[in-house]
Amino acid sequence: MQSQSHESAKHGLAAGYQPDRPDWTIDQGWANYTAEEHAVWKTLYERQSRLLPGRACDEFIRGMQDLPIGPDQIPNFEQLSEVLTKRTGWQVVAVPCLVPDDVFFEHLANRRFPSGQFIRKPHELDYLEEPDVFHDVFGHVPLLMNPVIAEFIQAYGKGGLRANQRGVLDKLARVYWYTVEFGLVRQPEGLRIYGAGIVSSSAETVFSVEDHSPNRIGFELERVMRTLYRIDDFQETYFVLDKIDDLLALAQVDFDPYYDRVTKAGEHLPGDVLDSDRVFTRGTGRYHTQKREGILA
Ligand SMILES: [Fe+2]
Repeated sequence: MQSQSHESAKHGLAAGYQPDRPDWTIDQGWANYTAEEHAVWKTLYERQSRLLPGRACDEFIRGMQDLPIGPDQIPNFEQLSEVLTKRTGWQVVAVPCLVPDDVFFEHLANRRFPSGQFIRKPHELDYLEEPDVFHDVFGHVPLLMNPVIAEFIQAYGKGGLRANQRGVLDKLARVYWYTVEFGLVRQPEGLRIYGAGIVSSSAETVFSVEDHSPNRIGFELERVMRTLYRIDDFQETYFVLDKIDDLLALAQVDFDPYYDRVTKAGEHLPGDVLDSDRVFTRGTGRYHTQKREGILA
């Protein structure tokens, strides 16, 4: 899920990893994936392919159709990049683990999407601490085929470099989290998913759009910049765009004036619903209440 927090960047460093290249990229080494690793991809791919029609947004489905991504093999980043570059100028580069924030933003600002090179093990299909090739490629790359999202994620990279210098990255990271990772969007048939954290998770794919527990609230920038999020479980609140094209305006926002205001205004908890919210669904909160009470594992 890349760049959701500063803590996340410690993983590779904490493990003592020293990058060979300053931008932390490595060769994908596609020929070295084992049959077992391709089989994990296939399991995940097929499970999501069954769940996503009628739940993922049109832009995601179209992006997936146009990319060399299929069930049988972990995609080859060079082949992905060839198609992606022609469409939106993006490419996919391999990294061995989470990378430091500045390295991550520098890649995004230059239309390079750093993707985990490894794939999760068969016993960790539903939980992993670091984004792997399934999350990064299956979850993120189809939407990078969309020119608006392509623009937005590049702008986020540029904004991230500035926010990091100002020490306000936590505020900006919430925008990425509640859009690129966990965003929902209105479409004529109903609410649909565009967030990569959701489309790469079978359980959250269903939870985010169908469960009665979470809130679904209209996206409003300042509101989102003030809202804490959960990194360890399903979200308590999903923010909903009226249309994907709204991200274009967001890509052009100068965030600088927001930081002081948002910092002074204080934070909202992940499950809060405010009088000023445009509420699509007021959640029961049942799932997280049961978790807190120890009823759910
Ligand atoms: Fe991600």
